[in-house]
Amino acid sequence: MDGNGRWARRRGRPASFGHRAGVRAIKRTLEGCEQLGVDVLSVYAFSTENWTRPRAEVRALMRLFHETMQREIDEMHRRGVRIVVSGRRDGLSSRMRDRIEQAVARTANNTNGVLNVCLNYGGRAELVDAVRRVVHDHLAPQQIDESAIAQRLYVPDLPDPDLIIRTAGESRVSNFLLWQSAYAEMLVTETLWPDFDIEDLKAAIAEFNSRTRRFGGRPEVESPAAGAASR
Ligand code: IPE
Ligand code: MG
Repeated sequence: MDGNGRWARRRGRPASFGHRAGVRAIKRTLEGCEQLGVDVLSVYAFSTENWTRPRAEVRALMRLFHETMQREIDEMHRRGVRIVVSGRRDGLSSRMRDRIEQAVARTANNTNGVLNVCLNYGGRAELVDAVRRVVHDHLAPQQIDESAIAQRLYVPDLPDPDLIIRTAGESRVSNFLLWQSAYAEMLVTETLWPDFDIEDLKAAIAEFNSRTRRFGGRPEVESPAAGAASR
């Protein structure tokens, strides 16, 4: 979710104004996912690098997360959404950690979609934490394979993302879901996150549906000759 700051600046307002509009965009997008049959929505809310932002902005963001979780939890739960939070818990205030644990525990058995909030999240930090668990679990070198790592990610039961949408025109991965995004389709849109709406989501899904995913293989036979040669 990028472009909150630019969206606010264009209106002569502080970044926090854009972040508030960004929360409304998350709500719209989650509703869009429910309508369009997308089961898992991951949102990159705060990265391990975002702590370097001005203190006032960090504080405003944390207050916004806390307040939003408190305000929205009842409705999310009523709609059957399971909330999970990916990221390092240490570094967050105990108030925030309690709020997170409450939301996660309360919605744990919901089955009408997943909202994965990546908060104090970094893809590298997630891999470091997974490796720490591997060591903690005393795995022998020959026991360490891809599934040993995948099982130790923050939310191991989530499927890999099919599509990653980056708003506000930046073509960077920015430490998001490094392990899980190995074969994700990437889509960059110029739309600033606070402006992102169901039409943008529909356009993104249409674009996704037009792509051919090969996962490194060669699923289609291109010509009879090539087909004969490979058989
Ligand atoms: C995204 O918007 C905010 C977060 C996810 C923390 P930005 O605040 O990065 O917006 P720009 O890049 O300044 O426009
Ligand atoms: Mg940005």
